[in-house]
Amino acid sequence: MKSLVVYYSRTDITKKLAEEIADKVNADIEEIKPKVNYQGKIGYARGGKDAFREKVIDLETPKYDPQDYDVVYLGTPVWAGKASTPLYSYIRQNGTNFSNVKFFVTAGGTGFDSTLKQLEDNTKKPQATLALTTKEVKKDDYSLEGFID
Ligand SMILES: Cc1cc2nc3c(=O)[nH]c(=O)nc-3n(C[C@H](O)[C@H](O)[C@H](O)COP(=O)(O)O)c2cc1C
Repeated sequence: MKSLVVYYSRTDITKKLAEEIADKVNADIEEIKPKVNYQGKIGYARGGKDAFREKVIDLETPKYDPQDYDVVYLGTPVWAGKASTPLYSYIRQNGTNFSNVKFFVTAGGTGFDSTLKQLEDNTKKPQATLALTTKEVKKDDYSLEGFID
């Protein structure tokens, strides 16, 4: 089974999960690179606003085509109760190109359900989901069992 892990991560929390998942399922890995700067304080404010408005932004051209994969893992931090703007933009550009999807989401502690719903509404029903707090990821306080198999 061919798997692809696609993620966006601003402060490397979601990235940690993405790399571990890709390693364990032997997947190709695609880091989404926005053409908009979301770093720093100004970037944080811009991110909250853009995510809330479900803005679609330009991304660097992806390396991999999700149509070539049996399952695509989509990972994002929660921004203002939604998917981060870069990952949201990616799924808006590829909405119908996924055979099967699984979602993994990280957040300080709120907005998991609304983010998972938004991801499903813009792709399809996921085979599995994983929602973890920033703290759980940092402390290695989670298991991928049931998510990756
Ligand atoms: C613009 C912005 C908005 C955020 N909004 C939320 C939120 O609504 N709820 C929440 O629990 N955490 C929120 N966070 C925190 C992140 O979801 C959390 O720190 C996440 O684990 C960061 O993942 P990353 O390092 O992969 O970017 C927000 C962070 C940013 C930058």
